[in-house]
Amino acid sequence: MKTTLAEIRFAEPADAAALAAVHEAAWRGAYAGIIPHRSLAAMIGRRHVGWWNRAIDRQAAILVLEFNGEIAGYATLGRNRTGALDVEGEIYELYLKPEYQGVGFGRRLFRAATALLKDRGLRGVAVWALADNDNAMGFYAALGGADIAEGAERFETETLRKVAFVWR
Ligand SMILES: CC(C)(COP(=O)(O)OP(=O)(O)OC[C@H]1O[C@@H](n2cnc3c(N)ncnc32)[C@H](O)[C@@H]1OP(=O)(O)O)[C@@H](O)C(=O)NCCC(=O)NCCS
Repeated sequence: MKTTLAEIRFAEPADAAALAAVHEAAWRGAYAGIIPHRSLAAMIGRRHVGWWNRAIDRQAAILVLEFNGEIAGYATLGRNRTGALDVEGEIYELYLKPEYQGVGFGRRLFRAATALLKDRGLRGVAVWALADNDNAMGFYAALGGADIAEGAERFETETLRKVAFVWR
């Protein structure tokens, strides 16, 4: 008997359309009312099925969480891009469809992403979150992240504060 319905694995070419759909639903859910509408629409527009296809083809590190045959969320990861942070790994994105949030999938994806970074020899992990994204801020703090740096991101007329969490 199959006892677990949720599985984390690398993204495959057949996942591109589902990833574009998860990205759109999660980003609208997380950022509508925070990131100005036009910027958010443009960011979502750029991440169409073709973008995901190319990323999967290039073997970018993309993990998907599949639940009951559906892609519920994803994480992307790699080398830390911010020199000022004293860690080698970074989770670039971690997103779940709204209907799959709050049931432990985020924690599972986070654990799988940090384990993969460690397997690849990268020491320590950073994640950036917009300070206005209360869910992400609460989630990363609950997972024991230390918020150690701040930055800013400009969208149209708005400048939004972002926070870096690290796990050493
Ligand atoms: C943020 C996100 C990844 C969290 O994943 P999730 O599956 O909802 O979270 P989980 O159910 O795995 O929660 C893990 C732990 O974090 C805690 N947590 C989650 N959200 C929280 C919040 N807003 N405030 C405080 N604690 C929170 C949970 O209580 C849980 O702790 P517990 O196991 O001790 O009870 C998910 O909600 C999501 O995709 N949100 C929209 C997109 C987004 O903001 N992504 C992050 C961009 S930086």
